[in-house]
Amino acid sequence: MESKLTYQPFDRAEGDAIAVVLFEDETVLPAELQFASAWLDDLRSSGEFSGKSGELAILHRPQGLAAKRLAVAGGGKKAACDSAVLRRAAGSTVRALKQKGVKTLAWWLGAGEADAVIEGALLGNFEPDLYKTSAKDSKSLEAFHVVAAANGGALEAAFERGRILAEAQNFARELVNEPANRLTPTVLAERARQMAAATGLECEILDQDRMRQLGMGSLLGVAQGSDQPPALIVLRYRPAGAPKTNDHLGLVGKGVTFDTGGVSIKPAEGMEKMKYDMAGGAAVLGAMQAIARLKPAIPVTGLVPAVENMLGPRAQRPGDIVTSLSGKTVEVLNTDAEGRLILIDALTYAQRLGCTHLVDAATLTGAIVVALGNVNIGAFTNNDALLGRVMAAAKAEGEKMWPMPLDDDYKELLKSAFADLANIGGRAGGSITAAWFLREFVGDTPWVHLDIAGTAWLDEAKPFMAKGPSGVCVRTFTKLVMGW
Ligand code: BES
Ligand code: ZN
Ligand code: ZN
Repeated sequence: MESKLTYQPFDRAEGDAIAVVLFEDETVLPAELQFASAWLDDLRSSGEFSGKSGELAILHRPQGLAAKRLAVAGGGKKAACDSAVLRRAAGSTVRALKQKGVKTLAWWLGAGEADAVIEGALLGNFEPDLYKTSAKDSKSLEAFHVVAAANGGALEAAFERGRILAEAQNFARELVNEPANRLTPTVLAERARQMAAATGLECEILDQDRMRQLGMGSLLGVAQGSDQPPALIVLRYRPAGAPKTNDHLGLVGKGVTFDTGGVSIKPAEGMEKMKYDMAGGAAVLGAMQAIARLKPAIPVTGLVPAVENMLGPRAQRPGDIVTSLSGKTVEVLNTDAEGRLILIDALTYAQRLGCTHLVDAATLTGAIVVALGNVNIGAFTNNDALLGRVMAAAKAEGEKMWPMPLDDDYKELLKSAFADLANIGGRAGGSITAAWFLREFVGDTPWVHLDIAGTAWLDEAKPFMAKGPSGVCVRTFTKLVMGW
């Protein structure tokens, strides 16, 4: 989709439609809508449109306008209309209008924020229909123009920021949407390499031989059940000029391109969804793309351990004992608890690369879905200050997150009779014991773990977003880094 910011009077903006936000508590119509006051009065008195968030009304052949239709989108209460509301309004409007055959859409900015509008539009226009060979073109918008009366100074920068953020989320969503036959660990690494080349990030891919040399036995144990070799993707962003801080953030994302469960095989029903088990990794890659373009002041390293969890003849068995990069041994009691096995080697490696702060995202446990449903990300930490920063970034970006406990008592559940640790702690508190397992490998390094199993995939479409990958954590990660 072509998108740009233009400066024009309201009535001159061309397109199949021009959209404008109207608020629930807006008593005086803005000047540019005076011509439509009778129509809007009728809409309000009939109850068809009251300005509530999510509402949309369409007037054809609006008198005196260059655009073919006028679309009014509800913005809710004016004082409550923040960037999240605006982003959703733009997304819902795009999704509703493209269904009606609108190809070119102008968006009258009024007093709104250009970043939220372009971001919402690009997110709303994304469809997970890459592999449908017919009738999909009819669904997409071809052009989206944000129209402002005049350049208000920071508009261009805001528009660019919104576009960068949306493209980063859609990149992550594209990767998650790829089925596992098309997106193997090698292909994921190749996509990361291409993105790095395009944005100026440094990219290093550790292959199986290198991982063997280093001693990443925990990651390799998971990978050995598949014909597809693993890859550890490492992307480096370094700010230009002299460092302003000694802090160095490591973003780590689970990259299981498919999770069958291994020998501890999963039930058939719903297993197809396990192509999204690399959504944490995709979020890291998306965030790194945005970071490369927005150029924050701190160094950031993105790490994505990528493997396929299969049950080939060499697959690891329950009871196998592996030696992790840290030197600690792990008894693999359940091969379906593989995410934590690959993450611990990546977390150890991130510390060796000098990361002073670690944040990981992983579709780690079904238990977090039981605890928090599909609404909140579960957040775990060994450092309340870092958790505070991550939660503030999430709140600012409208990505819901809830702190989860990590009392020492839970750690006991990971005891193994034969190795330093077992990789599972039983059914009770499953997302907490999973987080504790990771914590055993980060030492005192400030660390936050985000369990996104319930939030990385939308089982149903939202008015402002298609069914499928949500791109969750890209915005939070980027905000965290930009505000560091
Ligand atoms: N990828 C899954 C977690 C998951 C499960 C995500 C369901 C989304 C929906 C993870 O690798 C896994 O299988 N975890 C197990 C752990 C258990 C064996 C201790 C789980 O949650 O069942
Ligand atoms: Zn699993
Ligand atoms: Zn998994």
